[in-house]
Amino acid sequence: MTKEEAKHKIAQLTEELNVHNYSYYVLDEPTISDYHFDMFMEELQKLEEQFPELAHDDSPTKRVGGEITKNFKTVKHKYPMLSLSNSYSKEDIEDFETRIKKLVENELEYICELKYDGVAIGISYKNGKLERAVTRGDGVQGDDITTNVKTIRSIPLQLNGDDYPEEFEIRGEIFYPKTVFKELNKEREEIGEDLYANARNTASGTLKMQDSAVVAQRRLDSYLYFVLGENLPFKNHYDSIQKAGEWGFKVPVEGKNYIKKCTTIDEIFEFINYWDKERNSLNFEIDGVVIKVNSYARQEEIGFTAKSPKWAIAYKFKAEKVATKLLEITYQVGRTGAITPVANLEPVLLAGTMVKRASLHNADQIEKLDIRVNDTVFVEKGGEIIPKIVGVETQQRDIFSKPTEYIKNCPECNTELIRSEGDAKHYCPNEWGCPPQIKGKMQHFISRKAMNIDGLGEETIDLLYEKGLVKNSADLYELKFDDLLELESFKEKKSQNIIEGLAVSKQIPFERVLYAIGIRYVGETVAKKLARHFKTIDKLKDATFEELIAADEIGDKIAESIMHFFTIEQNVKTVERLRNQGLKFELSEEQIANSTTKLEGLAFVVSGVFSKFSRDELKHTIEQNGGKVSSSISKKTSYIVAGENMGPSKLKKAQDLGVEIIDENQFLEMI
Ligand code: IVH
Repeated sequence: MTKEEAKHKIAQLTEELNVHNYSYYVLDEPTISDYHFDMFMEELQKLEEQFPELAHDDSPTKRVGGEITKNFKTVKHKYPMLSLSNSYSKEDIEDFETRIKKLVENELEYICELKYDGVAIGISYKNGKLERAVTRGDGVQGDDITTNVKTIRSIPLQLNGDDYPEEFEIRGEIFYPKTVFKELNKEREEIGEDLYANARNTASGTLKMQDSAVVAQRRLDSYLYFVLGENLPFKNHYDSIQKAGEWGFKVPVEGKNYIKKCTTIDEIFEFINYWDKERNSLNFEIDGVVIKVNSYARQEEIGFTAKSPKWAIAYKFKAEKVATKLLEITYQVGRTGAITPVANLEPVLLAGTMVKRASLHNADQIEKLDIRVNDTVFVEKGGEIIPKIVGVETQQRDIFSKPTEYIKNCPECNTELIRSEGDAKHYCPNEWGCPPQIKGKMQHFISRKAMNIDGLGEETIDLLYEKGLVKNSADLYELKFDDLLELESFKEKKSQNIIEGLAVSKQIPFERVLYAIGIRYVGETVAKKLARHFKTIDKLKDATFEELIAADEIGDKIAESIMHFFTIEQNVKTVERLRNQGLKFELSEEQIANSTTKLEGLAFVVSGVFSKFSRDELKHTIEQNGGKVSSSISKKTSYIVAGENMGPSKLKKAQDLGVEIIDENQFLEMI
């Protein structure tokens, strides 16, 4: 393909992908299959690798992230990011209107919107391109998290049409859709990490992650609700927001009743009551409704207090709370042996779902609430996913009732529980003899991101375990076709699939095997870092604490957990058996051939376009040789690898700090 043809094809694919991206992520109405979308994306990626000089900064391929931010820059907001005053009743809203009516004479139109429970963000655009995204911070200044925000699919990198202002800022909230948050927690459960309790706090944490490639996988979403700028081409808030929808932003639309024009308090209350009832049907969290004066001219007349606009108010829903009876406290044993006490309740309707159980977290929580069987308890659903018990009615308690005694032995295997200092939870230490722990280990081993064994699922593992066919992951590789065929509902095809799936899984690379064996706190990313650093399971096993924490991103907690893992004989044996069965416990020759420690201790910034590498290849090469890549130049930067068209501001900063600039040939010599 000639360069001219490639340019044409890239433009065509970009346009196509942007349109589908918009339908899928903004309108929620997919127009092509995931498969075709991926094919187009792959084609574009390949062309951009082949012709790096034709790759745009705002190409849809950039959504996968990759830039690392060590320290987020603090920047001042052009317009302070204010908050809203709150209201809780019809009287509060009436007072709000009375206050406003004293300031303006004209009839007023209000806009009612949902109050999204997410992380506030201000995004600036210049000539239709996303320029910068900043968190609220203290309202005056916030953190520049542009690299991470650019990975969020519902936020446009390049606007549609040509009638947007040359420069403007748009504000809104970033959040986890409920379904995505649930899945995220399911993955955490698989690696034995504590679950995230609160979607908003988790979204906020995700946005401050250093590696934008991880953020890209997290599927955050957004709603935008406020356009700011000088000489905006509209006279009111509603028109601005609807227009922003045409430019490509995800904005509330009337069709879904997410936004409504009102003129009376009764109409406002109709909207409030509707969503107070219906909010559970949304796939995102809201915690109230926001009421805004529509006309910009009236907004200006009404003005601001120091903290918030006087032309808008938030109405907060009450957290739903119900009373019910505690029937029993049971104890669950997780994959890692962690014990979670669960309150079994008389079923009661809360926030649209029938609640029968609530988490009691740990022994301290039970003691603090002094909760006892047969008590009347209050259950609340706040921002947290699992309903919680917020109080106990002690007045009506039977005089003979006794404080709850926490269990001392495992409810599954009767082993005495342990509780380490500083740990809130009790654990069952019988890792290899306690059924839920045994099954849990195997379920993790076969899961999608670990060995991903075709044909095997959680239920099959349960069945194989119950039938006494497997007790650990190495047993799986000794399963015979005939053993499987004998099981209920197992036909030839199904059995054959499993046997083949197991054989194929022997090709899975070391880092995923390392993740699969289930060392506590070793998730996917950590497993990758460990594999790259130690190269073989033997070196990892023999590493001292100091050697472990010297590896990139490995802290005390992970290091201790790795050392503990290898002190348990069963673990060592299982690893040995898996190795003999042909699983990969070291990096492949190809992986090793390409990796050295030549750049250890050096930090690189990559800028411009290269002829021998794509930018991602160059970054990957630096990391494979032990170097670090960061996105911004600082005193700690050792070298800047500069290609064509290095940005002038980067050049100046490099010169100011005296950082050495090298080209790709000099870099190649270094390695
Ligand atoms: S308008 C100057 N609209 O709630 C007015 N804010 O508790 C700017 N929020 O600061 C805010 N949904 O972070 C507005 N539809 C909505 C909102 C919304 C959520 C957030 C926002 C605000 C906070 C106030």
